[in-house]
Amino acid sequence: MMSYFTEANSAETVNARMDPATNPRLAVIMASLVRHLHAFAKDVTLTQEEWETAIAFLTRTGQMCSGERQEFILLSDVLGLSMLVDAINNRRPEGATENTVFGPFHVPDAPIREMGANISLDGKGESCLFEGRVLDLDGQPVEGACVDVWSDNADGYYDVQQPGIQPRWNNRGRFFTGPDGAYAFRGIKPVSYPIPDDGPVGQMLGQLGRHPYRPAHMHYLVTAPGFQKLVTHTFVGGDDYLASDAVFGVKTTLVAPFEPVTSGDTAWRSPFDFVLVRE
Ligand code: BEZ
Ligand code: FE
Repeated sequence: MMSYFTEANSAETVNARMDPATNPRLAVIMASLVRHLHAFAKDVTLTQEEWETAIAFLTRTGQMCSGERQEFILLSDVLGLSMLVDAINNRRPEGATENTVFGPFHVPDAPIREMGANISLDGKGESCLFEGRVLDLDGQPVEGACVDVWSDNADGYYDVQQPGIQPRWNNRGRFFTGPDGAYAFRGIKPVSYPIPDDGPVGQMLGQLGRHPYRPAHMHYLVTAPGFQKLVTHTFVGGDDYLASDAVFGVKTTLVAPFEPVTSGDTAWRSPFDFVLVRE
């Protein structure tokens, strides 16, 4: 029996139009989205004006996007959706290093550097030795793993945010492990920084009484043949923003030690092992 659209039957009426045979997975996703969207509008008794505000917000979000800026991913990040999708798709056994959000500042094909090399090219910040091993779940070293790292500089900006100000490839590099699975590089003790907040997502955070800061972290993309890709960070323990990361990326197991070093020209040492899962 055909029925016209009413407030009461709204979601069912929309979903009944779909032909699940055309694209079965899309039909499942869209039917659930329509159900939740309609339930949400009913739950808050959405006004016409609020609906228009939302449309204007989404329009500005799209207009902010460019080759260098992805405001929709930023929106997903601050709503916790990026971390949820990451969690759903990276369930790992006990003992494996946990994933966290990738973020927009990775640049592929960073320079391959000698083990132990310094990735901080602008001479700013407190120097820090990052070292550890890439292991499998049995504690065996993983040879030939690529440890791709990136961080902000001491002013809280990635090199790609300051072309012409920071040296190209500042605080970035790739390191390949040998038979012992060990990696080591020098960088700076990272600092906390705000996510790009000069667009609609930043305005929304302001309206919600939320700050845009991420706690200090070093990014890692660890890959090795035969192992699942690991996208993660290590966080600086004690950071003021650990409990209120704007993008919800913090996990207890990713808070790394940062130990003061008294000899030599390195101020800090941060040991951390990465444990990969076989494909
Ligand atoms: C980052 O850590 O680089 C980042 C993650 C999510 C949004 C913005 C920045
Ligand atoms: Fe970051």
